[in-house]
Amino acid sequence: MKMVDAKSQAQKIAFAPLTFQAVRSALNLGILKVLDDAGKDGLCADKIEKSLGLAQYTVSTLLEVLESAGILECKGGAYVSTKIAQCFLYDQMTKINTDFVHDVCYRGAFYLQESFANGKPEGLKVFGNWPTVYEGLSQLPPQVQKSWFAFDHFYSDNAFDGVIKIILSKKPERVFDVGCNTGKFELALFSKGFKGEVTLIDLPQQLKKAEENLKAAGFGKNCGFYPADVLKKETKFPENPAPDAILMSQFLDCFSKEQIISIVQKARNVMTEKSRLYILEPFWDNQKFEAAKLSLTHTSLYFTAIANGSSKMYSRAEMESCVKTAGLKVEKTHENVGNHEYTLLECVK
Ligand SMILES: C[S@@+](CC[C@H](N)C(=O)[O-])C[C@H]1O[C@@H](n2cnc3c(N)ncnc32)[C@H](O)[C@@H]1O
Repeated sequence: MKMVDAKSQAQKIAFAPLTFQAVRSALNLGILKVLDDAGKDGLCADKIEKSLGLAQYTVSTLLEVLESAGILECKGGAYVSTKIAQCFLYDQMTKINTDFVHDVCYRGAFYLQESFANGKPEGLKVFGNWPTVYEGLSQLPPQVQKSWFAFDHFYSDNAFDGVIKIILSKKPERVFDVGCNTGKFELALFSKGFKGEVTLIDLPQQLKKAEENLKAAGFGKNCGFYPADVLKKETKFPENPAPDAILMSQFLDCFSKEQIISIVQKARNVMTEKSRLYILEPFWDNQKFEAAKLSLTHTSLYFTAIANGSSKMYSRAEMESCVKTAGLKVEKTHENVGNHEYTLLECVK
């Protein structure tokens, strides 16, 4: 790369937080939509001002930023939409990631470096004084919760059908879901006709929500609700009768490697020779698309500044090594589970 090109790339990064806010503003003010609706001929700035009732200052400033950032094109005085603009308008993944970064991560990211230095999510203080985001999840402002849950659900929900097929192939009667969140996996599992029992395990505040959701859907009688902080030394998983399957879906990335080893050991302690631990994760080094790898490595920064200051999205080798250290063996690796390149590690004693 020539130095001039390197400088150009470096300026894009230097101004990236401002570009991000400019795109959101243009989107929310309706500028991207009127331009896209105008098609290949585009619109002049004054037509946009009139049709949206916006000030000349607002429209000209945003159009200049978006054109220089390659998000719009300018042809003979008219601004024209691009495929990038269309992603912000219509692509669900782009929308969910943008809302997550803005609502959940943006203000706290200011404290990223301090979070690394102190091993604590220093950015979480913009929302409240909890040790990790999980204790505060149910008390976050409604818009922040909405974006958090949309981000969480968008990726793993999509993998659930594939996971259920794999888990049910072993005909389990007793399933644990550790880090069950709002109970979406159980809704999917029971709606596939599962007749066994599920024990949902999560922090008490979170488990309440899952319990409400499952009872409302009429599946309450097949569920046990086990409030627990898996990080507490004294926490044990229920063991009588032993689980046939334990699911940890998009869960272990919420912890440091030492914590992962201890959690997997807790699972191991209640497993029989027949039990299986299923670990579902999107490993950053196992992605077909560059954008997926970038999204996952950047999600690690959310864990640093907002979630807990100590966890990250892991590579497959890192997770396998934790599983091994905890005394389990990866018996089978299921690749490409769902649409987002998730991997399901099937582990045995
Ligand atoms: C990223 S969500 C995963 C949700 C769900 N399993 C999925 O696949 O979408 C992580 C879950 O772990 C729970 N969690 C985080 N820390 C925990 C802890 N120390 N003990 C128990 N659960 C915890 C959170 O409350 C949250 O529901």
